[in-house]
This record gives sequence, structure tokens and C-alpha cells, in this order.
Amino acid sequence: MNIAVYPGSFDPVTLGHMDVIERAAQLFDRVYICAMVNGGKSPLFTTEQRFEMLCAATASLPNVTAELWTGLLADYAREKGARFLVKGVRNATDFDTEFGMAQINRGLDPELDTVLFPARAERLHFSSTMVREMIKYARPLEPYMPAAAIAVMKGWKNDGKP
Ligand code: PNS
Repeated sequence: MNIAVYPGSFDPVTLGHMDVIERAAQLFDRVYICAMVNGGKSPLFTTEQRFEMLCAATASLPNVTAELWTGLLADYAREKGARFLVKGVRNATDFDTEFGMAQINRGLDPELDTVLFPARAERLHFSSTMVREMIKYARPLEPYMPAAAIAVMKGWKNDGKP
């Protein structure tokens, strides 16, 4: 069975992420989405909120499971029996970053390879940073975020949560 892990901060999950998830779900038998902490970023949403949005957004994909992990990605992949990491690339900057991370992860586990999905042209400019700006200025999120994740956010608002 070919198992892949798609890691990220998902702060929040975007339609760019969903494109990668759906393509990975077609290519691999099972895909684990791993919501992680990126030490270089201070997130808008808590880990639990990011995870809740991811779960809602991927609920309809039968071979996709979202999980939380606070350790090394290579350890998570080994625990899941995954030989592939999946990443999306939008531009040369993403490629440089992902190329470097692929070497680090392969150094940690020589069995672990990285598969890069080039972003779809119409979603090239999508990023969690851009979506956080839209949230800050109360702009419509439907063009950028999965509807199920937006519904989760609206539920928090009604509960008096952020
Ligand atoms: O969505 P992001 O913020 O670009 O995701 C980055 C992430 C979380 C995938 C990266 O920071 C990561 O892999 N963190 C886990 C720690 C780890 O395994 N580091 C070594 C590989 S670089």
C-alpha cells in the first residue's frame, strides 16, 4: 500500500492546500495530513482550531485522515508506514524551500522521498498568509477557503470564540 503524508501549518487550510490533498488522494492509497507547528511562524489559529478546520474540509475524502503532530515529520511518517511526503509548490521560492526540506527528511530517513505537486495556475497566488489578511479585513473567504472550514469558523463566532 502506498501511503503519503502531507504536512503543513494549515493556518488556515486553503483551496490551494485542498488541490494538493485531492491530487495526492488520487495518487496514493492513503494520505495522512499532518497539522504541525512551524517554529518560524506565529499562528493566527490554535493547533486545535487548525486541526478542526482540516478535519471538516477533508471529511468527504475516504482515504484521507487529518492528525496533529508536534515532533519531527520523519518520525510521524515512519509511524504511519509512509514512504512519501507530499508538498505543493507555487514558485521558485517554494521549490528552493521544499528541495532543502526534502534533503533534510531523506537524511533523517533514507526511505522517505518527497513528491512535489505544482500549484494549479488559478491558485498560484493562494496562501494562508493572504487568507489571514482577508479574515483581518472581514472580506469574503469563499474564493480561498473550503466551505466546510468556513462553516467551522462561523460556528466559533456564534459560540463567542475567535
Ligand atoms: O505550512 P508550512 O508552514 O510551510 O509547513 C512547514 C512544516 C510544518 C511542514 C515544517 O516546518 C516541518 O516539517 N516541521 C516539522 C519539524 C521537522 O520535521 N523539521 C525537519 C524537516 S525541515
